[in-house]
Amino acid sequence: MTSPDIHVLPAHVARLIAAGEVVSRPLDVVRELVDNALDAGATRIEVEVDGGGLRLVRVRDNGAGIPAGSVGLAPLRHATSKLSPQARSVEGVTTLGFRGEALWAAAQAGELHVVSRPAAQVGACEVLAQGEDVQVARTSAPAGTTVTVRSLFARLPGRLRTQAPAASEVREVTALLGRYVLHHPVLHWRLTVDGEVRLTHAPSDHRGAVASVYGPLSANRVLAVSGEGVRGVVSRPELTRARRDRMHVSVNGRPVLAPPELERAVIEGFGELLPAGVAPLCVLDVTVAPGDHNPNVHPAKQVVALADLPGVAARVRAAVAAALAAHPL
Ligand SMILES: Nc1ncnc2c1ncn2[C@@H]1O[C@H](COP(=O)(O)OP(=O)(O)O)[C@@H](O)[C@H]1O
Ligand SMILES: [Mg+2]
Repeated sequence: MTSPDIHVLPAHVARLIAAGEVVSRPLDVVRELVDNALDAGATRIEVEVDGGGLRLVRVRDNGAGIPAGSVGLAPLRHATSKLSPQARSVEGVTTLGFRGEALWAAAQAGELHVVSRPAAQVGACEVLAQGEDVQVARTSAPAGTTVTVRSLFARLPGRLRTQAPAASEVREVTALLGRYVLHHPVLHWRLTVDGEVRLTHAPSDHRGAVASVYGPLSANRVLAVSGEGVRGVVSRPELTRARRDRMHVSVNGRPVLAPPELERAVIEGFGELLPAGVAPLCVLDVTVAPGDHNPNVHPAKQVVALADLPGVAARVRAAVAAALAAHPL
């Protein structure tokens, strides 16, 4: 084989590759927009999905809004209000976003429409972005931000053809929203799919969130967990599952794929109370110092690296064991 020449990709191809890492499916858009709403301090977050998210994803929040002076920058690549230009690393970030790529990637992959107004600002701004084209106009709107992404991948037929069927994407979006509700139970949440409300939640605690997501029968069978840097609920030993699909962990507010070490720690916390081979339901919010975790190890930030995983696992095990010990079973 002759050795091929190496060349640097032209900018427009490099852009498509980079945008595809952030937004490869509608689920990614939902997660990024919800993260933005949480970062904006919203107390009410409403998500709409049509056509499996390919036709439309919309997230409306009542958070801080984007000031008129900078709203036109929001869809630009690496434009963020969350890392200062002086930042030397991203490891100390306390927000869910920090790369400044989500709105940009959404505009590369579809049509991005943002309407935003900070509460103290007179009048709202509206931004339409498609590819590198960004247009800003004045409009009126309630305080907060509504971001809509339409016609996802319409300009990328290859990407469109490889998308999962709408029904399976909707299942994943519903599961994702459920995880946000479980880990942020003090907020108002609503998910609407093709005009039908799928999930609603009014401010409550973790138990109330379990009721919203899994129903009152499950909610009546959970115990509160409150340990050092670990809060949430675990199911009583009689409520078990064959799979670990209801073991939910967040790290500093971000729902993550729980490291197996933490899942094991929860199960070990039950000691003899749990039959071998079954898993409990749990919702655990783990808090670590910002410098003790690195959220920048995964494109979708679904995996975080923990500086002291054994230490965190020990705290989880102790908190679960204490919760079970505190209740007559
Ligand atoms: N829902 C929102 N509410 C307030 N500001 C927002 C919202 N969505 C986006 N922004 C602003 O737009 C910027 C770019 O967003 P994004 O592309 O997701 O990057 P990042 O979240 O990594 O900063 C954010 O830093 C923030 O200033
Ligand atoms: Mg973001």
